[in-house]
Amino acid sequence: MTTTSSPPLLIVFGAGGHGRVVVDAALASACFRAVVASDRNPSLWGQQLLPGVPIVAPEALPTLQGPLALHVAIGHNLVRQKEAQALRDIAPLVSVIHPRASVAQSSSIAPGCLLAAHCVVGPMAELEEGVIVNHGAVVDHDCHIGAWAHIAPLAALGGAVRVGTASLVGAGSVVLRDVTLGADVTLGAGGVALTNMPAGQSWAGVPARPLERASA
Ligand SMILES: CC(C)(COP(=O)(O)OP(=O)(O)OC[C@H]1O[C@@H](n2cnc3c(N)ncnc32)[C@H](O)[C@@H]1OP(=O)(O)O)[C@@H](O)C(=O)NCCC(=O)NCCS
Repeated sequence: MTTTSSPPLLIVFGAGGHGRVVVDAALASACFRAVVASDRNPSLWGQQLLPGVPIVAPEALPTLQGPLALHVAIGHNLVRQKEAQALRDIAPLVSVIHPRASVAQSSSIAPGCLLAAHCVVGPMAELEEGVIVNHGAVVDHDCHIGAWAHIAPLAALGGAVRVGTASLVGAGSVVLRDVTLGADVTLGAGGVALTNMPAGQSWAGVPARPLERASA
């Protein structure tokens, strides 16, 4: 005997610009019964994040009728991670995938990821929990993206690139094939990474160098 359950109501936590991107993708995906936004900022409560998507106080979330799903839509990687931890009991964390994202069947996507419109996730790529692959970004074959990392709009990762936990690959940047970025690394917008980048460093420029030397 088969049972059917209605699609979940999606809670998008974080009512800023990134929240709008997530809500837009969630609505386009038609995977959810409805979408509600929430934020810790009281000045947003009662407003709408996008037309038809109310912003409610976090205190209201436990009163929502299930089934529920949660996506934390905060651009700052460490804050996104922290909020996902704090809100875990409210609903299971889910990924949101825009229908115009191109996602290889052999890739693996952990819960809590956003795959925005026109991004590409190639064959055998692995995305850990809470990763953002933003508009038009390319994560090519065999890449491994650590939890809570952000691949910003139009960034391009060649094959087998590894990106560490909570790192930011800036908008329009390029990481060459087989290069590894450690945890908590920032590659500045438009940078081109030719070599491995150690954990905790910020690099920028073409070719990318540690930030204090980026403009040297
Ligand atoms: C690299 C980055 C993190 C540096 O930020 P910061 O620590 O605040 O550094 P500052 O803005 O003080 O700049 C420090 C120096 O680096 C240079 N610099 C900053 N960003 C740079 C970039 N992307 N490429 C080349 N040089 C850059 C600045 O010109 C400055 O040079 P100077 O010392 O000769 O004046 C930031 O500029 C950046 O590119 N962030 C990524 C943004 C992004 O893509 N977000 C995703 C949005 S969805």
